[in-house]
Amino acid sequence: MPFEHSIKTSSPDETYALGARLSSFLEAGDTVSLSGSLGAGKTALVRGIASGLKVKSHVSSPTFTYLHVHEPEVSGGRTLHHFDVYRLRDASDFIEHGFDEQVGGEVISVVEWGDRVRGVLPDPVIDISVTYGEGQDDRIFQIHVPDNRDMAALVGDCS
Ligand SMILES: Nc1ncnc2c1ncn2[C@@H]1O[C@H](COP(=O)(O)OP(=O)(O)OP(=O)(O)O)[C@@H](O)[C@H]1O
Ligand SMILES: [Mg+2]
Repeated sequence: MPFEHSIKTSSPDETYALGARLSSFLEAGDTVSLSGSLGAGKTALVRGIASGLKVKSHVSSPTFTYLHVHEPEVSGGRTLHHFDVYRLRDASDFIEHGFDEQVGGEVISVVEWGDRVRGVLPDPVIDISVTYGEGQDDRIFQIHVPDNRDMAALVGDCS
């Protein structure tokens, strides 16, 4: 059964914590497609995911380079490929840059603005959309996991 759930956070710290928790459900070859408007909190979530993967290097949107490769600095960590494709024209642009070779495989990839290149992302793709909630710092993360891995613990301790 696919997993579908909305989780609200009310601060950047809560979003970081959500990303860290989420990271423990990620497997080699997973691609997370992150969508949501400018400043919604995509990079904030990636920072949490990176911390959970034991990546210590600073995570910022790879706006001009499109891709930041983060290697874990401790054993037991996992490699993170962090894309931001805001400035790519479309999915064929993604392929022309050779990025289709940089997703999937043994690494975990997170693609900000992933909806723009969604059709060429290799399965399994975890879709996360970020939208604004009622309060100024409220953000709603709508998470869709396509396969039947057990995600129950992700929602066990949050709304
Ligand atoms: N609950 C929250 N979660 C995440 N960020 C929040 C939250 N509340 C407020 N913020 C603020 O929203 C902004 C999110 O910025 P961030 O760079 O993560 O967004 P983004 O979606 O990656 O933007 P871009 O499209 O420019 O890459 C930050 O200024 C952060 O402080
Ligand atoms: Mg960003």
